[in-house]
Amino acid sequence: MPIQEVELVNFRNHKYKNITFKPNVNILVGKNGVGKTSILEAIYIKSEKKSFKTTHLKQTITYNENKSQINIISEKNKKFNVTLFSPETTVDLFYSSEQKRNIIDQEIKKNDVKYKKELQEFNKILIQRNKLLKNYSKHKITNKEFEYIKIWNQQFLEKSLIISKKRKEYLNKIKQYITDKYNKIVEKKEENIIEIEFISSPKILTEDNMKKIMIENFEKEKILGFSLEGCQKDNFQIYLKGEKSKGNISQGEAWSITYAFVLSENEIIKNQIQNKIENILLLDDLFISLDKTRKRKVIDILKKESQAIITTTNSENLNIFNKKNGINIIKMN
Ligand SMILES: Nc1ncnc2c1ncn2[C@@H]1O[C@H](COP(=O)(O)OP(=O)(O)OP(=O)(O)O)[C@@H](O)[C@H]1O
Ligand SMILES: [Mg+2]
Repeated sequence: MPIQEVELVNFRNHKYKNITFKPNVNILVGKNGVGKTSILEAIYIKSEKKSFKTTHLKQTITYNENKSQINIISEKNKKFNVTLFSPETTVDLFYSSEQKRNIIDQEIKKNDVKYKKELQEFNKILIQRNKLLKNYSKHKITNKEFEYIKIWNQQFLEKSLIISKKRKEYLNKIKQYITDKYNKIVEKKEENIIEIEFISSPKILTEDNMKKIMIENFEKEKILGFSLEGCQKDNFQIYLKGEKSKGNISQGEAWSITYAFVLSENEIIKNQIQNKIENILLLDDLFISLDKTRKRKVIDILKKESQAIITTTNSENLNIFNKKNGINIIKMN
């Protein structure tokens, strides 16, 4: 059920804004600062109940106002999901393990109602466990008080394994699509060109192994004051023809891998929800560093996906998308 209309009141620089969208590809075009990303942000907030730009939703209220409003009309008023691509995603997927975990956690949550709670519970346990370890390392608690760690250990182990296994399973699904998506973007036909390696913590995800590792690490943890292994350290690496370092992958390649990753996420969620909920692709600054041919290719691929909302500053070359392709160009100023 694609979204049809977005109405913003006192949201960022939009005192009042009303935009209508078409079911397929929509492109928001306008100069820097006209409020294109803000529109994606508003749609994202409505679906995810949080922003991708700030942790404080209050910051999205127009300066000197005290309330903002986001109204979205979708077909039959149905719920929708969103998947975001932005220039930052390209960086996140290659550099920060925390961001990488966030990216996939966000997607797993969409189809697994228990996952959010499991993450919250694990984080609580991790905080409690680390607090005990830290206090013990600084001699702030007695041995007897430190005994409580035994209660946390078992819960830590159980939740950590559940989360790591779900992440592993999710990345296995991404692997099924990503090479095909990448080949389509770069117009090649190479097999297994992209590989994803999940580096879980600990490496072997069995209860016995994790128990063993936790016992081995315990003396060290008591000195260092924090937990050494567990899903808080999970990571994954994406390789292009065996290269993982961003330094060895060109900007355009990193961009294409990220786009292929996002399209794979979309494929997974579409299979899971089977048209009950629309997954909308929010693609911020999608065309940065793309030449004319690549731009057209990128849009062609999208037409077969789902509803997409793209932002771009570049109005030249937009005539390459003619109206008969069902592309909706929305000019903003
Ligand atoms: N709370 C707020 N109240 C009013 N204006 C704001 C607020 N927060 C941000 N702005 C302004 O809103 C404007 C729109 O920002 P936005 O990021 O949406 O622009 P954009 O069209 O995506 O630009 P670019 O092409 O540079 O990415 C910016 O000028 C920003 O300074
Ligand atoms: Mg922007």
